[in-house]
Amino acid sequence: MSTDRIIIFDTTLRDGEQSPGCSMHLEEKLRMAEVLDRMGVDVIEAGFPIASQGDFESVNEVAKRVRNATVAGLCRAKTADIEASAEALKPAKRKRIHTFISTSPLHMQFKLQMPPEAVLEAVAQSVTTARKFTDDVEWSAEDATRTEDDFLCACVETAIKAGATTINLPDTVGYAVPEEYAEMFAMVLNRVPNADKAIFSVHCHNDMGLAVANSLAGISAGARQAECTINGIGERAGNAAMEEIVMAMRTRPDMLPFETGIDTSMITSASRTLSSITGFAVQPNKAIVGANAFAHESGIHQDGMLKNEKTYEIMTPASVGLHKSEIVLGKHSGRHAFKNKLEEMGYTLGDNAFQDAFKRFKDLADRKKTVFDEDIVALLGDDGALYEKIKFVSLTVHAGSDGQSADITLEVDGEEKQARADGNGPVDAIFNAIREIYPHPDADLPLYQVHAVTGGTDAQAEVTVKLEEKGRTAMGQSADVDTMVASARAYIYALNKLLRKREKTASEVGP
Ligand code: KIV
Ligand code: ZN
Repeated sequence: MSTDRIIIFDTTLRDGEQSPGCSMHLEEKLRMAEVLDRMGVDVIEAGFPIASQGDFESVNEVAKRVRNATVAGLCRAKTADIEASAEALKPAKRKRIHTFISTSPLHMQFKLQMPPEAVLEAVAQSVTTARKFTDDVEWSAEDATRTEDDFLCACVETAIKAGATTINLPDTVGYAVPEEYAEMFAMVLNRVPNADKAIFSVHCHNDMGLAVANSLAGISAGARQAECTINGIGERAGNAAMEEIVMAMRTRPDMLPFETGIDTSMITSASRTLSSITGFAVQPNKAIVGANAFAHESGIHQDGMLKNEKTYEIMTPASVGLHKSEIVLGKHSGRHAFKNKLEEMGYTLGDNAFQDAFKRFKDLADRKKTVFDEDIVALLGDDGALYEKIKFVSLTVHAGSDGQSADITLEVDGEEKQARADGNGPVDAIFNAIREIYPHPDADLPLYQVHAVTGGTDAQAEVTVKLEEKGRTAMGQSADVDTMVASARAYIYALNKLLRKREKTASEVGP
């Protein structure tokens, strides 16, 4: 690897998953890992194995499936954590144990309640333990940017002496500004005698909107690994967005003479896959992957673009995978479009499985105007069947300043049922009516989101609904020119998925 090659360490499945409301299930993590692996990520941090049985299993399954990338598991400076990571990572072709401990006075005193000498000892011990399981060990100084220089240097030197091959200096709380983040790397690289024995890494949080700027500054000062996430998801205000770091380097090689192994044409599909999994749409003006990132509204800009695209576009849409006009799957879509979509979403099916999935897709498309990624995930569910215990039949909504109510007809297990309910607004009335027909008191609604797919008052409304019940989550999406109909369908879709998950859990637990 040339010295100017930057290692992309993606932590969407670990730090990204720590975003409030972003938790992912095993199948979702596997889908995302597949996309990350195909796009050329060097290291996929798959989770924090000691955190829960679910996290352990996710890291373990990702380790089994990933073909090219190194798979990393996070652990505190504790033997039990390190052993759990080592166990979860066993099936990986290439594995990395990532161990961390806080080094700032604030964290040592209040969080760890450990004196600096004990922290230094824990650095040596944790890295030595991790090295018993793999030669690829990363050590992170949590809250490095608020750590005293002398102590940071002592910790880094100790970690490298104990066998750490990557040293990560995170801006854990998004406190640094670019110049000082760069200075910290320059200082450590200059003062630590064995610094040349390890690769240094940036890991920046976005609390002041500086995560990408700080990451690039750290790289310019000598770091050769960037820790980042798709769409910039992550703890609090998020992590540095991978697509922004990678495209900044690609667009400004004069100022940022670095390369990565990322196939940038997969950026858009990676971003959309993640949004469809988490239900978190990216803001329209988000750099690189926002809906408006390559849209031109003003007359002057449109005129310039028509004369020469370079007038207002510093990178081409094709470079981030926007070259194809977007394919919307519906009943007229053929095998080719369907296969293409599956590949974009990270699925590779054998011939028989593909034919089977295509048939189910056609059946669904006959009943639904637009088939979303979420629908496809459901189509490809373990048993392959689209689970429709509850079907939408009709809806009438009464709305206005006098109050709101909804009359809904559903088919439950083949039997038509009707209900009328009032609500705090028409959507609430619809959902109350559904709950009346099929009560599910333990389910919460953490997400209801409406997005206009096109402009104008006849725009298709795309509605996303997320239901949560006892740790199970289910997402439903639907589109219709009538927002209320789309809302009802999306809710019913999510409810069907939740009921399916309930059944599966019951059958796993046994009679
Ligand atoms: O932000 C941070 O400090 C982290 C470490 C655990 C690497 O995520
Ligand atoms: Zn972090």
